[in-house]
Amino acid sequence: MKKRTEILMCPGDLQYPEGYGKINEWMDERHSVGSFMVKWVYRKVIKLVSFFGADIKLIPFQKEYPDMFFVRNAGLILPGEKRRVILSSFKHKERQGERDFYRKWFEENGFEVIDLPVGVIFEGGGEAIWYKNTLFFGHGFRAPINTTNHIRYALYKANLEANVVPLKLNDERFYHLDTAFMPIYGDGETTEDVLVYAPIAFDIEALKTIAALSIKRIEVSEEDACVFGCNFLAIGNNIIMAKGTKNLAYKLQNFYGFNVYEVDMAEIKKGGGSVYCMTLNIS
Ligand code: ARG
Repeated sequence: MKKRTEILMCPGDLQYPEGYGKINEWMDERHSVGSFMVKWVYRKVIKLVSFFGADIKLIPFQKEYPDMFFVRNAGLILPGEKRRVILSSFKHKERQGERDFYRKWFEENGFEVIDLPVGVIFEGGGEAIWYKNTLFFGHGFRAPINTTNHIRYALYKANLEANVVPLKLNDERFYHLDTAFMPIYGDGETTEDVLVYAPIAFDIEALKTIAALSIKRIEVSEEDACVFGCNFLAIGNNIIMAKGTKNLAYKLQNFYGFNVYEVDMAEIKKGGGSVYCMTLNIS
């Protein structure tokens, strides 16, 4: 029987305190995030996720760490029967304290927690994305390239045969891989596997690597990438996506057979994230 999809979320309200730095290009208005609207989005996304048949788990929110809302960065979930996670270790001091709360939650919920060596920066599911047995790893702004080998070693020690493919990010606005790169699995009947990605975000080598992949590709315009169009959550043939893309939602819906549900993510964007960032697939 197919495992049920489990999604972790964090019921935060994205209130950045005085002194919280601008840690990505989108955060100029971080001190004026509307708490009411964030909670509205949060409830809306929860409703859609459960409507599409996934189970929701919640990690308690810690007020001093508003970016816990973006729980995708908690760690990298490993595939397989065993529940295992490579714990994140954040670049910015603003987020470093989140780690202990993630560790606690994972341990209490039956995960084996894998640590990378002290000092290795890694921001979890925002930077590393699985497609079959390949792990795409976006580096450059948060994790540096040398995190790649630490991840390879951790996967090897975990007995996982995986191919780790580094992709260099080249545009500060797309600082985590999940802002510009999203492979989706089709059901093989009405939908096919497709990789949604924004070329603007990558360097030449990364673009060559992507071009050589044997998967259909949708190239996303800079404009749609800036709405965080790539940062959607797919559950089966259903996609929850930021409202406002010019072409992407239309394409996925009308040419590729997915059902796209758009949510107004404007308030969340002030933190520099969108739907995918505020969820973490844990099954
Ligand atoms: N303010 C957060 C940061 O800069 C946003 C994280 C978005 N998460 C993501 N997976 N892209 O770290």
